[in-house]
Amino acid sequence: MPLRLGVLVSGRGSNLRALIEAASAPAYPAQIVLVCANKEAPALEHARAAGIPWAVFHRADYPDRTARDLAMAVHLQQHRTELVVCAGYDEVLRPAFTRAFSGRIINVHPSLLPDFAGTMDAPARALAAGVGETGCTVHLVTEEVDRGPVLGYRVVPVVSGDTPDRLHARIQAEEHRLLPEVVRGIAERRIPLPR
Ligand code: GRF
Repeated sequence: MPLRLGVLVSGRGSNLRALIEAASAPAYPAQIVLVCANKEAPALEHARAAGIPWAVFHRADYPDRTARDLAMAVHLQQHRTELVVCAGYDEVLRPAFTRAFSGRIINVHPSLLPDFAGTMDAPARALAAGVGETGCTVHLVTEEVDRGPVLGYRVVPVVSGDTPDRLHARIQAEEHRLLPEVVRGIAERRIPLPR
């Protein structure tokens, strides 16, 4: 049985698109059963176009973030989600959520963690820091932001004339390969998750 994925998005959704494409191959060992967003994100168009169930959890509809994240966790559980993939999700998940899916949440981050953790501006920060290389990391989500165990990474060199956008675009090209590969590794149990 394919591993059942719930994907959390807030932005453009290029990583979601990469996962949808990977999962469209008959032999791919995972399927996306639900896409959740915290706003009307462009990423949802990819879910709609692929006929994947989706839901938006607006912060304003709940008394607080914990209630919102719990509602999202329940919805994911109702879809029998086995692995939650944060693919450009721009909020820190509340402990109530990380406990509900403990050891079953992964995130893709545009740097070589632990460098430039905790910021969506990691490519700009890498450029400003003058590093010769950066990259992307897929890691397990724990209650400590961007500090969970690394499951896979790709190195991307910084080249002369790079701008934050150009560098981020090259990092994203690697993310689009890395994320489906890590999900495959988890589904095939080559990449172990905590028990
Ligand atoms: C990616 O660069 C990811 O590393 C970061 O947010 C970005 C999401 O891009 N967490 P997209 O929405 O998948 O295009």
